[in-house]
Amino acid sequence: MTLYLDNAATTPVRPEVLQAMLPYLTRDFGNPSSHHEVGEAAARALDDARRRVAAALGMRAGDVIFTSGGTESNNLAIKGIAVAALLSRGARHVITTPIEHESVLSSVDHLRRVHAFAVTMLPVDALGRVDPADLAAAIRDDTALVSVSYANNEVGTVQDTAGLAAASEKVPLHLDAVQAAGWLPLSHTGADAISVAGHKIGAPKGTGVLAVRGRIPVEPLLHGGGQERGRRSGTENVAGAVAIAAALELAETEREAEARRVTGIRDELVSLVLAAIPSARLTGDPVNRLPATASFTFAGASGEAVLLELERRGITSSSGSACAAGSSDPSHVLTAMGVPADEALTAVRLTLGHGAIDPAAVAAAVAASVSALDPGPDRLGA
Ligand SMILES: Cc1ncc(COP(=O)(O)O)c(C=O)c1O
Repeated sequence: MTLYLDNAATTPVRPEVLQAMLPYLTRDFGNPSSHHEVGEAAARALDDARRRVAAALGMRAGDVIFTSGGTESNNLAIKGIAVAALLSRGARHVITTPIEHESVLSSVDHLRRVHAFAVTMLPVDALGRVDPADLAAAIRDDTALVSVSYANNEVGTVQDTAGLAAASEKVPLHLDAVQAAGWLPLSHTGADAISVAGHKIGAPKGTGVLAVRGRIPVEPLLHGGGQERGRRSGTENVAGAVAIAAALELAETEREAEARRVTGIRDELVSLVLAAIPSARLTGDPVNRLPATASFTFAGASGEAVLLELERRGITSSSGSACAAGSSDPSHVLTAMGVPADEALTAVRLTLGHGAIDPAAVAAAVAASVSALDPGPDRLGA
């Protein structure tokens, strides 16, 4: 039996979510654009899912665009809002941070290369925090969009969303809430656009949402039949929409109690790891962090080697980001936070889920994995 501690990479589909979506893969399989009873049943399910997602995100039903996941939601938010602002008012400036997910950084880079946007990268401090005052100072008359992650996927640092929303009052603020969903409140963030990925919260891979306040124009990336109010053409994934609605609702019902429980376990795990391993350092904000994220560096070790040792001991974890897995480059998140490149290569991220774990046993396995790699004085020269 392995213990899966990589829940920030993806999660299993929850049984309740599977139950909710199954009828729309089989009995009620219609195309929601079809004008007959089979299609209309699917359209009703889609409308209902849209209303429920909107309620969870503090948005209106018409603001919700169903997508294929976090990457698409981020691409649509960034390119869609920025290009619409370019077309309507000649805005050619976007603001983001150097610790964003690749789907954000690459979308911003696309705007720069293809549409000649200027890009401001806000600094982050050693804990991965963005200062709202820096955002306020960076906003220009031609700023089309601000995009910041609500919580970082590698180190779990949670941003001051209220401060960021106040600072970007005149410019649309997009929050990548892919990691925040399920752990942090989503309905009162002050954001104008929010990205969520279903597979991080117990819905299947290939499901996602971008919610954008109705007054903000979005230039579509996918053109065709005009579904999703023309903002995302293509026959909707009805079962996926039902799944993400069910997953968001379940997560919201359980969120406060789960966040409290998991934070307690995470804190105990972090203390035990720091106590057992002299080289261990917690990365990210020690207080304002995602409940489930315990992220470390182990100077002198190799993060990839620690992961393999942990896997041998039955624990599945990650170096920080599934997307960067296999890359031998140090994490762009850690280096932006000022962690030296050689230390950044020793990163290990344990992300808890909704099951029970024994923090002492996990910390002991981490300590054994790190020390298995440490040559130690008595093994030198052997
Ligand atoms: C913060 C963040 N944004 C975006 C994504 C991309 O989401 P998806 O895997 O659904 O494309 C991820 C995935 O890990 C993420 O952690």
